[in-house]
Amino acid sequence: MPGQKKILITRKLPDAVINRAQASYQATLNNNDEPYGVDQMIELAQEKDAVLCTLTNDMSRSVIERLPNSICAIATFSVGYEHIDLEAAKERGIIVTNTPGVLTEATADVALLLILGASRRAREGAAMITTDWSGWTPTQLMGLSMQAKRLGILGMGDIGRACALRARAFGMEIHYHNRTRLSPELEEGATYHETPEELLKVSDFLSLHCPLAPDTKNFLNEKRISLLPPNPVVINTARGPVIDDEALIAALKSGRVAAAGLDVFDGEPKLNPGYLDCKNAFLLPHLGSATIETRNAMGFTALDNLDAVFAGKEPPNKLV
Ligand code: GLV
Repeated sequence: MPGQKKILITRKLPDAVINRAQASYQATLNNNDEPYGVDQMIELAQEKDAVLCTLTNDMSRSVIERLPNSICAIATFSVGYEHIDLEAAKERGIIVTNTPGVLTEATADVALLLILGASRRAREGAAMITTDWSGWTPTQLMGLSMQAKRLGILGMGDIGRACALRARAFGMEIHYHNRTRLSPELEEGATYHETPEELLKVSDFLSLHCPLAPDTKNFLNEKRISLLPPNPVVINTARGPVIDDEALIAALKSGRVAAAGLDVFDGEPKLNPGYLDCKNAFLLPHLGSATIETRNAMGFTALDNLDAVFAGKEPPNKLV
């Protein structure tokens, strides 16, 4: 339609999202879902008004500086935005939005899946049943109970709190560290620790829910792993680089860490091959928000943000 704004959608999104995008915009789609290289994306962005991108798109300063002047907004289909240089976008007057809130429950569900999968040795069990299971034995694949264990949550935002809610139903005791202490209503009885190190000392299970930032990169290193109680279980649904992979792999191999449940990886999709050798690493391919309902909601939220930008209003999830 003449007068319609032009948007570039960099990855294949769910049908319901594409249908809505096409009803409102002249949308350039990536039907084959092949990740664009930077040059290709810049080329496709020519004469567009906005880019609806994902966490697989490099939106660092050098890329943002090459975007055409016609681009007035970048709407990322993600809550995390470490792939976007906000300062560079701001300097060019480009509005950036994300999709918080709508993926809280799905991601917390996956954190629980990882807690259970890692502590109950699901990877080994799934392998055994298709290879050499010779029947039930009293000592086969004994794991660790969640009941009465301390769950340490690093980053008590929406997802951290949703994880706590679920873990309480399994009888876990909740501990947390957050940049700012929560109100008693939001704490719901969780024990606050002033420093991440104090939290680590009590974390029989540790679940990472902090954003990736310069101060959280490689947070879980050898020194911090040594603070954990014996036989800890480490869970990551946040971002891969929050963990020092070499340190965690060494700890999984030595038994210093009993098990890990990981949904995100430094350099994904190329995860450190050391994890593949660790039977006590229960691994998923970044499925945190991967439900139909959640991915639709993420797409609709990204479009709500763009609709607001083009209506001259403040988008609901404006980062800059
Ligand atoms: C997923 O990892 C997201 O940031 O939305």
